[in-house]
Amino acid sequence: YGDEEESQDYLFKIVLIGDSAVGKSNLLARFARNEFYPNSKSTIGVEFQTQKMDIDGREIKAQIWDTAGQERFRAVTSAYYRGAVGALVVYDISRRQTFDSVGRWLNELHTHSDMNVVTILVGNKTDLEEAREVSTAEGKLLAEAQGLFFMETSALDSSNVKAAFETVVKEIY
Ligand code: GTP
Ligand code: MG
Repeated sequence: YGDEEESQDYLFKIVLIGDSAVGKSNLLARFARNEFYPNSKSTIGVEFQTQKMDIDGREIKAQIWDTAGQERFRAVTSAYYRGAVGALVVYDISRRQTFDSVGRWLNELHTHSDMNVVTILVGNKTDLEEAREVSTAEGKLLAEAQGLFFMETSALDSSNVKAAFETVVKEIY
């Protein structure tokens, strides 16, 4: 019982945001279950997974929330962000439009949560290098301008997925 109570001190709520089909749900599936769904459907409402992480020898629980990018399928916005201490703002490096939306997602995040929520900008789908529309340099520049961490990932081939979540959790912790 004592252990359980202690671990409660380290339950961090982290939200995934970004346009539809950028790969939010697959980043979570890869991170939490090491799974990938080539034909996954849009998320409807809200889902979350609690993932145990070992940070500097201490057990941390990250409660990662995932909702739809499309307005009509989304969870109640204020409830989604309430209590969040970390955020992953995701775009798809092969679709510039999703990168252009990042500012809008950051506005929403800052409207509904604490200004100092630890945020990482994530350019997903690096396995689609031949279809790339957003350069790594552009991603980095935007992250720097907005004071965000930055990483490019692939939920398909797993690259940097764990690192992206760990970057956020380490900074919160
Ligand atoms: P919404 O729930 O609608 O907001 O979308 P989402 O951001 O959760 O996207 P989702 O994870 O459902 O992925 C959308 C599509 O992109 C699916 O067909 C995935 O298989 C594919 N996908 C996700 N991540 C990657 C990736 O890293 N590489 C490639 N090639 N495809 C990916
Ligand atoms: Mg989804």
